[in-house]
Amino acid sequence: MRLAWTSHPVLSFQGVVRAPGDKSCSHRALMFAGLADGTSEISGLLEGQDVINTALAMAALGATVEQTGPGKWMVSGVGEAGLRSPAGDIDFGNSGTGSRLMIGLMAGYPLTARLVGDASLSKRPMNRVLKPLERMGARFDHDGGGMLPLTLHGSAALSAIDFEPEQASAQVKSCILLAGLNANGTTTVTESRPTRDHTEKMLRGFGVKLSTRPAGGTRQTVSIEGGQTLTPVDTVIPGDPSSTAFLIAGALISPSGGVVVENVMSNETRDGFFQAAAMMGAGLGAEEIGDAAGERLVDLQAASASLKGRAIPERLVASMIDEFPILSVLAAFAEGETVVTGAEELRVKESDRIAAVVAMMRVNGVEVEERADGFVVQGCGGPPPGGGLVETHHDHRIAMSALVMGTATQKPVSIDDPGMIATSYPDFMAHMEQLGADIRAG
Ligand code: S3P
Repeated sequence: MRLAWTSHPVLSFQGVVRAPGDKSCSHRALMFAGLADGTSEISGLLEGQDVINTALAMAALGATVEQTGPGKWMVSGVGEAGLRSPAGDIDFGNSGTGSRLMIGLMAGYPLTARLVGDASLSKRPMNRVLKPLERMGARFDHDGGGMLPLTLHGSAALSAIDFEPEQASAQVKSCILLAGLNANGTTTVTESRPTRDHTEKMLRGFGVKLSTRPAGGTRQTVSIEGGQTLTPVDTVIPGDPSSTAFLIAGALISPSGGVVVENVMSNETRDGFFQAAAMMGAGLGAEEIGDAAGERLVDLQAASASLKGRAIPERLVASMIDEFPILSVLAAFAEGETVVTGAEELRVKESDRIAAVVAMMRVNGVEVEERADGFVVQGCGGPPPGGGLVETHHDHRIAMSALVMGTATQKPVSIDDPGMIATSYPDFMAHMEQLGADIRAG
C-alpha cells in the first residue's frame, strides 16, 4: 500500500551536506569497469536503486561486481572474453540511463538478453536507440511499440554508422558510442546541442580514444573507433549536481536559508539550473576544492533570495534537463512569470514531467499554463498557498520537488508515494532532515 508523506513548512533551512555520488557517472563507472581488462575500484558510488540495477546487469553479463564498503565497489571486467548472455531477464527497474546505455553496450557482443523494467520505464520510448542499433546490425524482438520488455540479439560484427539523433539526448549519444566501441569502423554521433559529456570523459579515463569536434552552430560530432580495449582504472565519483539542486532550492525559498553542499561536480553540460537560478536572483557561491574523474569539484553555497520570474533560455535546456520540476518550485515562489520552452523531452522522462509539474503547481494553488514544449508559472512573489497532495507518477524528481516546496509554502505539501526517491537519492530524507525540513509519513 502507498502511504502519503507530508512536508510541513519550517522557518529555517540551514546546514552543510555532502552531495551524493553522481548518478550518470555511477552508471558509467560500473559499465566501463565491467568491460575493462582487469580490476577497477570505484569509490563514492551512488547506491541508488537505478545504479544497483546496472551493477546487477553487469554481473549477469559476466563481470565480477562486489561492494567492499559504503560507496566502495570492486569490479573485475570481462576484458577479451566479452559480455555473455545472462541466465535470466535483466531488470533495469526505473532507469532510462541504465537501460539505454546498456542496450548499446550489449549490442556489440553475440549475446541474447531479455530486458525488462518497471511500469514507468516500460512506457518510455526505446526506438530512439533501437533504430540506429538495427542499422548497425543488432536485432530486437518486441511487441512493435519499441518499449520494454524486449529481447536484444547482439552481434560481434556491428558496422559503424554516422548518426544524428532527433533529440538532444546524452542517453542516445552514449548508447550509439558504446555500440561503436565494438563495431567495425568509426562511429560518429552528431548532436544538435551538446549534452552531458560523461561518457566521453570517463571512456577517456579508461584509455579509450574519442574525438569531439564542432559541427557548425551549436552542433558537435563525437567519433569513436571500434575495437578498442578498456584499461582498468580507479575512479572517484563526483557529487551529483542534479541532487544538489533540491537542497540549493530549499535554501533559496526558505525564510532563513543557508546551505552549503560539498563536493559537487561543476560541469557546463550539467549546470543550467544554477545558471537559471542566478538569472532569477539567486546569489550562489562556488568554492573550488579539487577534481574527481576528470571533473572539477566545488562546494556550493546558497541563502534565502528574492526571486524574479524569467524566460529560461532554450540554450540551457539540455544542461538542466532533470531540473525543471525543481525549477518550477523556484518559479512558484518568484515574483512574475517564468517561461519554459523547447523542453518537449520532459514529456518522456520518468513521468510526463510537463503534465506532472502543471498538476503539482495547480494542486498547491499556483497558476500555471501547460504548453506542448514547456510551461508558464505565474509566481506568487512569496510563499505559495500549498496544501496539495501531489501525484508523483513513479517519478523521483517530482516527489523531491514537492517535498522541497512544502518546506516553505503556507500550508504543508504531501506526496502520494516517496518510494521512488531511492532510485536516485537514497539519502534525500536524511539530508532534508539534517537541514531542518519536517517531513513525516501521513
Ligand atoms: C542522462 C541523460 C538524460 C537525463 C538522465 C541521465 C545520462 O536523459 O535526463 O537523467 O546519464 O545520460 P536524456 O538523454 O534522455 O536527455
